[in-house]
Amino acid sequence: MTEDKSLPASERVLIFDTTLRDGEQSPGVALNAEEKLEIARALEKLRVDFIEAGFPASSPGDLDAVSVIAREVRGTAIAGLARAVPGDVDACWEAVRHAAQPRIHVFLSSSDIHILHQLEKDREQVLEMASSMVARAKKYCPDVEFSPMDATRSEPEYVYRMLTECIEAGATTVNIPDTVGYAIPEEFGDFIRQIQENVPNIDKAVISVHCHTDLGLSVANSLAAVRAGARQVEVCVNGLGERAGNAALEEVVMAIRTREDFFGVTTNVDTTQIYRVSRLVSQLTGMPVQPNKAIVGANAFRHQPGVPQQGIVKLRETYEIIDARDIGLPRGGVLVLNKNSGRHGLKARLDELGYEITGEELDRIFVAFKDLADKKGEIDDRDLDALISEERRAIEEVYSLDLLQVSCGNQLVPTATVRLVGPEGKTLETTATGTGPVDASYKAINALIGVPNQLVEYAVNSVTEGIDAQGEVTVRIEADGRTFVGRAADTDIVVASAKALMNALNRLLTQMPREERVWANP
Ligand code: KIV
Ligand code: ZN
Repeated sequence: MTEDKSLPASERVLIFDTTLRDGEQSPGVALNAEEKLEIARALEKLRVDFIEAGFPASSPGDLDAVSVIAREVRGTAIAGLARAVPGDVDACWEAVRHAAQPRIHVFLSSSDIHILHQLEKDREQVLEMASSMVARAKKYCPDVEFSPMDATRSEPEYVYRMLTECIEAGATTVNIPDTVGYAIPEEFGDFIRQIQENVPNIDKAVISVHCHTDLGLSVANSLAAVRAGARQVEVCVNGLGERAGNAALEEVVMAIRTREDFFGVTTNVDTTQIYRVSRLVSQLTGMPVQPNKAIVGANAFRHQPGVPQQGIVKLRETYEIIDARDIGLPRGGVLVLNKNSGRHGLKARLDELGYEITGEELDRIFVAFKDLADKKGEIDDRDLDALISEERRAIEEVYSLDLLQVSCGNQLVPTATVRLVGPEGKTLETTATGTGPVDASYKAINALIGVPNQLVEYAVNSVTEGIDAQGEVTVRIEADGRTFVGRAADTDIVVASAKALMNALNRLLTQMPREERVWANP
């Protein structure tokens, strides 16, 4: 791990990223092993201190994904999550054991509401489970973290006891989760101070916090905890996470950095990677970043014409507290490419944007770039992001879209004709009607592929301004309780919509045994 050794550890706040675990538990997010690895590599470059790569006992697929990350990502400590039961601890060790620095993160609820209604146990039984599972983890791994889940709705005395026993059993980090986002900053800071006063062996462990955003307070709570002495913060890129999400990595890190005068601590994060990692996570999870999102939103460094702009031209600091370059946003405006730009120019711009693209991947992106430039003339950085997102989401195509033709209008029944090329080059064609051209296309595609699924989300965003902009479509489909995300961009939003559905369906199909990839209409 590349560390800033110039600061004593007590002045460093460790950043524990849980995008691949809590973030992946966001409704609708489904990452495959390759995507998880790509995000883990980007987090390593971002120089977070810990990557919580998954919850190995939750599925064999997650165990494999964590294990691959543990073997491949050597510059950052890799953690896995485990409930306080033997099978989980064993599976977690199996997954993280090849990491350069493995960590087992054991959790168990400490609130009565969870103990009585979820675990159906009593407090003494829960204490025993927690300390014995920390001890089991410790036999495998020197680095063990323990979390009393729902700590902020627990009786404080009971939390102190649980932490004392878990530290005694070998936990070297104790993490205080505000699981349901219930805490208020001042109160949460006091809780962290009380823990330091009431847990006699607390000097043997790092205090960590893990805050959820149900009341919009996760970042404020995390920072209040840092002020009170917490030295690890658990975060997710873009604030992903269960329900309303977790504290956003970029917000916590940039608050600590921008107000170092106030917090008196620092992190080891290379902030110039923040924008790139944010885009990557958004692309791969299919979770868009709201334009007014702090630090990484599209408007975060934009100003309406008028007084602020005059000020900024004279001196940036008049209206900006962060230099956009510090989060890796290229300053000096968006560079525009066009159909005369060559492969070299494209590569140079991609390099500047932080994309490492060479060889065949660059060839494919260059072809897509030329195609787009023919259609819309000027290509800016956001168009390039969309092209790369599409390239990276490309997967083995069981079926590919060969033809899409729609007719629609205020006097017409929307009708779509779709031709797909399927396994062994067979073509299938059908026509369907619907409430609009997208609905008609989706009906035709589903009729041809014939795999039961439900469309649970459809969103379209304009990549840039202007009537010639690309439309970027994200869809989520569900089949057999699993979610598949598809994304595609095109200057024609009906085409983008059809390609996004095909992307999601191909993801679904590649998970199925070949013989079950049904031909509804052979
Ligand atoms: O929110 C929570 O309590 C968690 C724990 C597993 C740390 O995610
Ligand atoms: Zn959580």
